[in-house]
Amino acid sequence: IHTDPTVFVIFGGTGDLNMRKLAPAIYNLFLDGWLPGNFAVVGTGRTKFTDEEYRAKLLEGINSFSRSGKADKAKWDEFQKHVFYQVSDATDSATYKEFSHRIDAFNAEWKTKANVIYYLAVSPNFFPIIASNLAKAGLTKDTKRTRIVIEKPFGHDLDSAKELNALLANIFDECQIYRIDHYLGKETVQNIMAFRFANSLFEPIWNRNFIEHVQISVTESLGVEDRGDYYDGSGAMRDMIQNHLLQLLCLVAMETPINFDASEVRDRKVEVLRAMRKFSPEDVRNSAVRGQYGQGWMTGKEVPGYREEAKVDAESNTETFAAIKFFVDNWRWQGVPFYVRTGKRMHQSASVITIQFKDVPHKIFPAESTESWQQNRLIISIQPEMSIRLQVQAKRPGIDMILNAVDMVFDYKGTYTNQAPEAYETLLLDAMLGDQTLFMRGDQVETAWELVMPILHAWQNKKSLSFPNYSADSWGPEAAEALIARDGYHWFTLPLKDKK
Ligand code: BG6
Repeated sequence: IHTDPTVFVIFGGTGDLNMRKLAPAIYNLFLDGWLPGNFAVVGTGRTKFTDEEYRAKLLEGINSFSRSGKADKAKWDEFQKHVFYQVSDATDSATYKEFSHRIDAFNAEWKTKANVIYYLAVSPNFFPIIASNLAKAGLTKDTKRTRIVIEKPFGHDLDSAKELNALLANIFDECQIYRIDHYLGKETVQNIMAFRFANSLFEPIWNRNFIEHVQISVTESLGVEDRGDYYDGSGAMRDMIQNHLLQLLCLVAMETPINFDASEVRDRKVEVLRAMRKFSPEDVRNSAVRGQYGQGWMTGKEVPGYREEAKVDAESNTETFAAIKFFVDNWRWQGVPFYVRTGKRMHQSASVITIQFKDVPHKIFPAESTESWQQNRLIISIQPEMSIRLQVQAKRPGIDMILNAVDMVFDYKGTYTNQAPEAYETLLLDAMLGDQTLFMRGDQVETAWELVMPILHAWQNKKSLSFPNYSADSWGPEAAEALIARDGYHWFTLPLKDKK
């Protein structure tokens, strides 16, 4: 793989995302030899820093958050020569003139025309102003070499997402726009496609005839931390389900693409979203559960309830948990429920997809053999454990014919010695290479919003009087258990070796 000379311009260059994720990702790409000889990282923000001060700040981020651990002195010295800082005012045209001069200077020094990636790691109210100002300064004209990366949230609802798409479409070609959903960069998430489409074993049974139901569960033990101001205007549905969980659902439910081209893969995914059943107000009552965490204890420490968190309204109606039963109305999936749930301050941090297969048509074994009978399941564990396990029935050793469920396991740790890259490494490299497969297309984002809007409307119009309705360190509100129990199932949890 060859990468062209590249300038990364990072808006929000002094922000949390850059320190925790972007700078460590770029540094690791450098260590692994993915970056070209000619590259530059230009961080930009309102605070004044010299290049030296900024480099020291990035080093702190890298030392604390990089998967490769503390930076090696010689490597860092080499890397930091490529790092610069520019103080900026995103609303001022002078800022963009300075970018333009800088980029010209890199081009002159490198004797080439570099690719430029504008990374918007800023609050979404700045997306329109930055995009428009880049265009006004003539910085977006080269459609082959200029790209813009947009962090979530992509819109607050369908209307604002459409507006943002329209604004971007006026300035950029779709092939220049990289809408990030970092879940798509996760190693285990990419493996869903490899697993489904590179094996002949599973695709023939990957449908309503063999699959009984699907669960997608992304639970987190953390609360909202210091993001109360953002989160209180967002909630679990907007923050997680509209994007990450629906993207996972698409990967499980999509038809087989004819090749691995970005447009082909993204077409197949958006078809799933289009086929998903729209919610009537009655469906919202029956098939959507929301929750908000109350005060409690996590690993021996007392933690505040959501309404007591910093920058959260003391009477907030925002959900920190959501569980929804979706259907995909097409030939492959008719009648198969897809249960998704996500929540903060839950008992365990784990992202797990469970595919439960239908039971055998007839049990030949006597009842005493089958007391711990378990239907076949395929369990795709995204994090923290990275594994795919197939649960099958087997005979327990002994004179008696006793059956129990055993796991056939593909475990990353036991199989590979090399460390998996972080999602942002994969995605940044793809943006450099011009590969949009793992990014969200404009129509995908809008279709996902269309799907969740009726639920959001219903929730917005009816305050939940029962909030908070789950305590910290629990599995969420009881209604979420009831949602799935009504159909005869229960939420599956993988026993984790790691601490909660
Ligand atoms: C982000 C959400 O997109 O994803 C956060 O805004 C959430 O609220 C995070 O905590 C979860 O990502 P991960 O990679 O830690 O599972």
